[in-house]
Amino acid sequence: MNNFRFHAYTDIRFGKGQVECLPELVCPYGKNILMVYGGGSIKKNGLYDKVKELLSDYNIIELSGIEPNPKIEKVREGATLCKEHSIDVVLAVGGGSTIDSAKVIAAGAYYDGDPWDLVTDSNNIKKVLPIVTILTLAATGSEMNKNAVISNMATNEKLGTSSHHFKPQASICDPEYMYTLPAKQTAAGTADIMSHIFEQYFQKDSGAYISERFAESLLKACIKYCPMALKEPDNYEARANLMWASTQALNSLLTCGKGGGWTCHPIEHELSAYYDITHGEGLAIITPRWMRYILSDETVDKFCEYGRNVWDITEEDKYACANMAIDATEQFFKDCGIPMTLGEVGIDDSKLELMAEDTIKYNNMSGAYVALNKEDILAILKACL
Ligand code: NZQ
Ligand code: ZN
Repeated sequence: MNNFRFHAYTDIRFGKGQVECLPELVCPYGKNILMVYGGGSIKKNGLYDKVKELLSDYNIIELSGIEPNPKIEKVREGATLCKEHSIDVVLAVGGGSTIDSAKVIAAGAYYDGDPWDLVTDSNNIKKVLPIVTILTLAATGSEMNKNAVISNMATNEKLGTSSHHFKPQASICDPEYMYTLPAKQTAAGTADIMSHIFEQYFQKDSGAYISERFAESLLKACIKYCPMALKEPDNYEARANLMWASTQALNSLLTCGKGGGWTCHPIEHELSAYYDITHGEGLAIITPRWMRYILSDETVDKFCEYGRNVWDITEEDKYACANMAIDATEQFFKDCGIPMTLGEVGIDDSKLELMAEDTIKYNNMSGAYVALNKEDILAILKACL
C-alpha cells in the first residue's frame, strides 16, 4: 500500500432539512455573498426561495446561467463581480458545473489576470475565497473535492484544474432536492460516479485492500439505487445513497494507498470539448469499449475480481467471467436509458483523430492502468461509433 494524505476537509451536512444550517455555515466569512447557480432548476424546486429566505440578512449578488460543461465566460463574469462587490464567500447552488465554476470564480477574485490562466496552470491558484455549496445532483463529487473542470469552446478545450484551496468549507447535501432531477441527469450522474470509481479501482495491484472493497460497495450502491431513483424519483433512500456515493467516490478516499492515471475521463473531456455532450453519457459510451480493449492476460484477473465482487458472477473461467462483467456494465447503462453510441449523441467520425490527438496532448496516458497511445484511443473511439 502506498503512502497517502487523506484530508477530509469539507464540513458535510447531509440529509433532510439540512439547508437550515446555511446561515450558520456562511456566517463566519462575512455579509457579502456571491450566489452562483445554473439555468433555473433551483427556482422550480423551491431551493432558490429557501436560500433567499434563510439569508435575508445578507447582501446577495447573483450569478445565474451556469451551463453544463461550464464555460470560462461565466467564470470571468463571476470573478469580476467578486472584485466589484467585495465578496466574502461564494455560495454554489446546483450540480458539478455550478460548483466547479464557483471554485474558479473564488480563485479569480484574488487573481489579476484572466481566470483562464487558473485553469491552464493550477500554480496560479494562490488564494481562494471560502466556498460553500448546496448540492442538487449526485455525480461529480465536487462538493468535497479539490477539482474544477472548465470549458473554453473558442479553443475546443475542456480542462481540469485542481487545488487544495478549492475544497469547499461546507456542503449541504439534501437528497430531497434531487427529486426534480430528470431521468437523463440521474442516469448520467450515476455513470459519472461509477466512472470515478472505475478510474481508481482499475489500477495496478497495490495491496490497498480497503480502498478496493470501498470501491466495490459504492459500485453496488449505484447498481442498486439508480434504477430505483429512475422508477421513483422521490424515493429518499435511493437519492440519499446515490448522493453519498457521489461524494465518497471522488474525495480521495478510493485512492488511499493506490495511484495511477485516469483513462475514460481524459477521452470524454475531448468529446465534450468538441461537442458539448453530457459528461456522464460520454463516459458510459466509452467505458465498456475501453474495458474490452484493454482486457488481456495482465488485466483479466482484475476484471474477473470486479465481476465476482460487484456483479456476483460465479463463472469459473476467468476470461468468461471478465467478459460477463463488461457486458453487465454495458447492459446496466443501457437499461438506465443512456444512449450507448457516439452517433446517438450527435458525434460522427470526422473529429475522432483530432480528439485522440488532444487526449494525448493534455494528459499523461502512459501513466494509465494500461498505457494508451493515440492509435489505441482512436480504436476505442471508433468502437464507440
Ligand atoms: O442548470 P440547471 O437549471 O440547474 O439544470 C441542471 C443542468 O441542466 C440540471 N439539474 C441539476 N440539479 C437539478 C437539475 N435539474 C433538476 N433538478 C435538480 N435537482 O442538471 C443539468 C446538469 O447539471 P451539471 O451541473 O452540468 O451536472 P453535473 O453535476 O453532472 O456536472 C457535470 C460537470 O462536472 C464536470 C463535468 O466534466 C461537467 O463539466 N466534472 C467535475 C468533476 C469535479 N469537479 O471533480 C469531476 C467529474 O469527472 C467531471 O469532469
Ligand atoms: Zn466525471
